[in-house]
Amino acid sequence: MPKHILINAFDMNCAGHINHGLWTHPRDQSAQFNQLKYWTDLAKTLEQGLFDGLFIADILGVYDVYQNNLDVTLKESVQLPSHDPMTLISAMASVTKHISFGVTVNLSYEQPYTLARRFASLDHLTQGRMGWNIVTGYLDSAERLFGRQHLRDHDVRYEQADEFLNVCYQYWEHSWQDNALLHDKKARIFTDPSKVHSVQYHGNFYQSQGVFQVSPSPQRTPVLFQAGASNKGMSFATQHAECIFIGGDQIEHIKQHVNNIQQQLLEHGRDRSEVKIFVGITVVTAQTEQQADDKLKEYQSYASPEAGLAHYSSSVGIDLSQYAEHDAIPYQKTNSIQSINQKFKTQEITPHSLKKQHQLGGRYPLFVGSGQHIAQQLIHFLDETGIDGFNLTRTVTPESYQDFIDYVIPALQQHGRYKTQYNTGTLRDKFFQKGAQLPSTHPAKKPE
Ligand SMILES: Cc1cc2nc3c(=O)[nH]c(=O)nc-3n(C[C@H](O)[C@H](O)[C@H](O)COP(=O)(O)O)c2cc1C
Repeated sequence: MPKHILINAFDMNCAGHINHGLWTHPRDQSAQFNQLKYWTDLAKTLEQGLFDGLFIADILGVYDVYQNNLDVTLKESVQLPSHDPMTLISAMASVTKHISFGVTVNLSYEQPYTLARRFASLDHLTQGRMGWNIVTGYLDSAERLFGRQHLRDHDVRYEQADEFLNVCYQYWEHSWQDNALLHDKKARIFTDPSKVHSVQYHGNFYQSQGVFQVSPSPQRTPVLFQAGASNKGMSFATQHAECIFIGGDQIEHIKQHVNNIQQQLLEHGRDRSEVKIFVGITVVTAQTEQQADDKLKEYQSYASPEAGLAHYSSSVGIDLSQYAEHDAIPYQKTNSIQSINQKFKTQEITPHSLKKQHQLGGRYPLFVGSGQHIAQQLIHFLDETGIDGFNLTRTVTPESYQDFIDYVIPALQQHGRYKTQYNTGTLRDKFFQKGAQLPSTHPAKKPE
């Protein structure tokens, strides 16, 4: 049977997420992100449309690299203001049954124990619909919020992340046995003391000792999402992640990336089937090709390629405003996102070419056309690259999600490439059909 395509809505608790400037479009409602109804309505819409998940990005810190100030970021609302994504989950879970929630939390400014507790609590409340997008940060502005000047070295961040996860695994997987919680009123035993164990963790970055305060949630460990693309990032992702995001628009390049992931998974004793791979995309669609083209033109008139550049400047840690429009931007080693920065080494990139790439204010691959046309392109992209699904960015919100539901999903279903109803079970069950908890080959399953 041809493989079903997985689709997550890619969003953030802010107005301008990826496709910048579109908050100025008359029909865009993203400025209502500070209201619960905006999110509960969105969750219901996505579930009616059979989306697999709502994936919520997050950053700590602000984009202040471009022009060495915050002006464009503030004027254009480039992920500022932005609110804590965890605060949205219970409300959305209460109005839905199936859709999952992948929430980004930057571990560099957290303690493993408190993060583990928060995710486990939400995994209970959502009945196993939680995923964690593990990020380590790439902004000096975040470091300054916590009393430091600069980011730690890129590779050290991943070493710390590795240890952070190992502490979380101890609490999620090894502190409580499955049948510890009895809730036996007659015997007056809520929890069997012989089945709850103390964790002892002594590492380079973290020390932690004690029992977990949360009984095992449906998934124990939330589904782990990660997007590392540098050498160190790939090694981390293939060791820990169950869902890996990769960027890019060239089929050959992505195919190679997928092969690398497969190879590295094997080196970690894991199988390709234990991981789902997603690519971020933007889609503009309508009833006909002509209407989709017209919609794109209309959206373009509201988009801000310059805001896209301000975002990009912080992603790579280079002030791109200092280069003339047609100057090639030289490679400079920075401590930010390595895999994006490397492109300056191998490609001739100018501010002009970047702005062209940011025609909707974001740099994700853009698909434009009727639902049938988009469905064919996505199927081709998926089959040629070997990925499993897409993270769909929003443009005009919630219109662009609704368009995808109205035009693209039915076309994918006609091709037998999209589910017509949800499977039962937790997020992990739905993605892997092998139970609610991690497989025994995953490092989380090894006791310290
Ligand atoms: C689809 C996608 C989504 C991401 N979302 C976030 C995010 O929400 N917050 C964040 O701090 N970093 C985010 N990142 C950046 C990654 O966490 C990571 O820094 C990046 O992929 C670079 O890793 P590398 O330095 O190993 O190349 C995202 C990356 C991708 C590809």
